[in-house]
Amino acid sequence: EKGGYPHFMLKEIYEQPQAIRDTFRGRMREHKGIIKMAGVDDHIDKFLNAKRLVILACGTSWHAGLVAEYIIEELVRVPVEVEYASEFRYRNPVIEKDDVVIAISQSGETADTMAAMKLAKEHGAFVFGVCNVVGSSISREAHAGAYTHAGPEIGVASTKAFTTQITVLTLLGLKIAKAKGKISTSDFHMHLEELRLIPEKVEEALKNNEHVRKIAEVYKDASNCLYLGRGFNFPVALEGALKLKEISYIHAEGYPAAEMKHGPIALIDEQMPVVVIATRRGHYDKIVSNIQEIKSRKGKIIAIVTKGDVTVKELADHVIEVPEVMDSMSPLLTTIPLQLLSYHIAVMLGKNVDQPRNLAKSVTVE
Ligand code: F6R
Repeated sequence: EKGGYPHFMLKEIYEQPQAIRDTFRGRMREHKGIIKMAGVDDHIDKFLNAKRLVILACGTSWHAGLVAEYIIEELVRVPVEVEYASEFRYRNPVIEKDDVVIAISQSGETADTMAAMKLAKEHGAFVFGVCNVVGSSISREAHAGAYTHAGPEIGVASTKAFTTQITVLTLLGLKIAKAKGKISTSDFHMHLEELRLIPEKVEEALKNNEHVRKIAEVYKDASNCLYLGRGFNFPVALEGALKLKEISYIHAEGYPAAEMKHGPIALIDEQMPVVVIATRRGHYDKIVSNIQEIKSRKGKIIAIVTKGDVTVKELADHVIEVPEVMDSMSPLLTTIPLQLLSYHIAVMLGKNVDQPRNLAKSVTVE
């Protein structure tokens, strides 16, 4: 059932090229210049009239929501707020009739996300679900939605659900931007073309598996780890840290890289591995100076870079390359080595990768 892989998590990491393809296939109609999503088409006025979007989710799905905030704000130019469902539901949230709420949940059964979306509905919001499990409670409770087509995710640590959620939310952003006339036809096509190439680029990123395993070997005994990213890759830093925590039980924190100097930099010494997402398009110069700051405090730098990078390569202790891609889609690639890194560390430490202690695949109680 693990298809020859030692763990479901590794199998699911490797399924990502296909899962992403399955998620956009049938929706991207490049020749017609459209994206087909019935749940959006049927309620297009809601999306066109929305003064803001509110995203509700927990855990990894919340991280996908953060990536979507950056993508949708950039494309659609409406404010997007991303809320922890557990916080939203208990604070008498400000929700208005014209708000569109997006609930993201792999399982579609997360109790807090479910309760938060019900609350939003009571306030008159239109609720759109992004779920992986067909027929799940959240998908049924939503007014409309779009499924991720990741296939069953068995490993407790979410992997392919995350990248397919980002894929669906990218399609959604592009579709609304097009409907609102916020994107030119040529830009729209350029985005679709880039998205179409993502599965093969993920494939290429996966080829670094052995290289990542060797890096894992070096840092498996670390007791802390920092993850830094900026822009579209700030949420990827959070997700990388969560993956390491949950399966290897190594304490890890993700930060927007520039926040480092407001506190976390105090943690950096020669014992501290710092994973930095430093792809070429995303605030590259700023990230390079963040890397210099870490280096001068003797932190160990593992950098995720764009293929062919030179500058960061000279500064970092290790680099892991990902293919060139437009900035907004880079999370789909930069996530891959971070998943592999935590996987290998957890395996080397003898942890139960697919069923980490204290965790359940779907959190149906609050
Ligand atoms: C992390 C993880 C959890 C889930 C969270 C939400 O790897 O799996 O953080 O992402 O419990 O679950 P869903 O998406 O099913 O609502």
